[in-house]
Amino acid sequence: MKKRCLSGMRPSGKLHLGHLHGVLGNWKRLQEEYECFFFVADWHALTTSYKRSWEIPENISEMVLDWLAVGIDPDKATLFIQSDIKEHAELHLLLSMITPLGWLERNPTYKEQKQQLKDKDIATYGFLGYPVLQAADIIMYKANKVPVGIDQLPHVELTREITRRFNFLYREIFPIPDPLLAETPKLPGLDGRKMSKSYGNSVFISDTPEEVTGKIMTMVTDVERPRKSDPGDPEKRCVAFNLHKLYMPIERLVETVEECKAARLGCVACKRELAKAVVEFLEPIWERRRNFSKSRHTIDEILEKGGKRARKEARKTMSEVRKALWNQNVRSE
Ligand code: TRP
Ligand code: SF4
Repeated sequence: MKKRCLSGMRPSGKLHLGHLHGVLGNWKRLQEEYECFFFVADWHALTTSYKRSWEIPENISEMVLDWLAVGIDPDKATLFIQSDIKEHAELHLLLSMITPLGWLERNPTYKEQKQQLKDKDIATYGFLGYPVLQAADIIMYKANKVPVGIDQLPHVELTREITRRFNFLYREIFPIPDPLLAETPKLPGLDGRKMSKSYGNSVFISDTPEEVTGKIMTMVTDVERPRKSDPGDPEKRCVAFNLHKLYMPIERLVETVEECKAARLGCVACKRELAKAVVEFLEPIWERRRNFSKSRHTIDEILEKGGKRARKEARKTMSEVRKALWNQNVRSE
């Protein structure tokens, strides 16, 4: 039997190239090897966006469109929306009973975000309990592997602790999930900082060819090369060159380095070439995105079908959970 893998993403809207080469690339590989559950964590999005809750549904469709466009395959992985499976709320409640407050208060992500999002009023019960809901998401499907970014490691660690506690108090029904750290190539944004929506330095999967080209043409190049006649050092000093490495065929990449160092290639021409390569890479993705967005009902169907499949598993788990909880005496610690 295949091992189970589960991951969720908060619906923050359109995804960018950083997501494409990072998380989504990873999901694509995993869907070949594991029984995968990928879901939209819309309740988690509420923890920080409850004052703008109406934006969440639209963000869900945009995000799922991006998933499908890059090749997350609903025939291979189960795709669903967290809030469609009410069992997550029940398990979250039960886990909240056995989770010591200290574990949550000590959570580094909690401390950090409370600092960073000062303007957001997130001193809420739900926000503190964020990792408890995440634990429910994960163990509901008895996931063995949880692919996450490094920022999510403390949450998976908490999941492991809560799971051990459940298994100890009631009955051993859950495997202890392992985090799967993706080796995500750090994709710099247009300005050289990490690509991130909040920095405004992203190329989005759903950008038009003109937008992609326009953005790439603004990319920072070798600053010590104001004129074409100055020799460049792409590997050390050119931000755009990080994209070259991803999108240019290897022979052309080698030539680019030579020509740049020899001051034979100008940055404008060089980035034009890069833009063309990125556009070519994105074309099949855009094509799939167009097709899916033409028939929105297809997406609804995919999520409904995934939801059915997820619900079946969730019901099974919850019936085991209730049995473990009510039929057996609590062990003394
Ligand atoms: N907290 C995760 C994030 O912000 C999203 C998430 C919710 C998740 N539930 C999950 C990830 C379960 C992995 C497993 O990225
Ligand atoms: Fe970068 Fe190309 Fe300019 Fe060299 S020529 S600095 S690789 S954009």
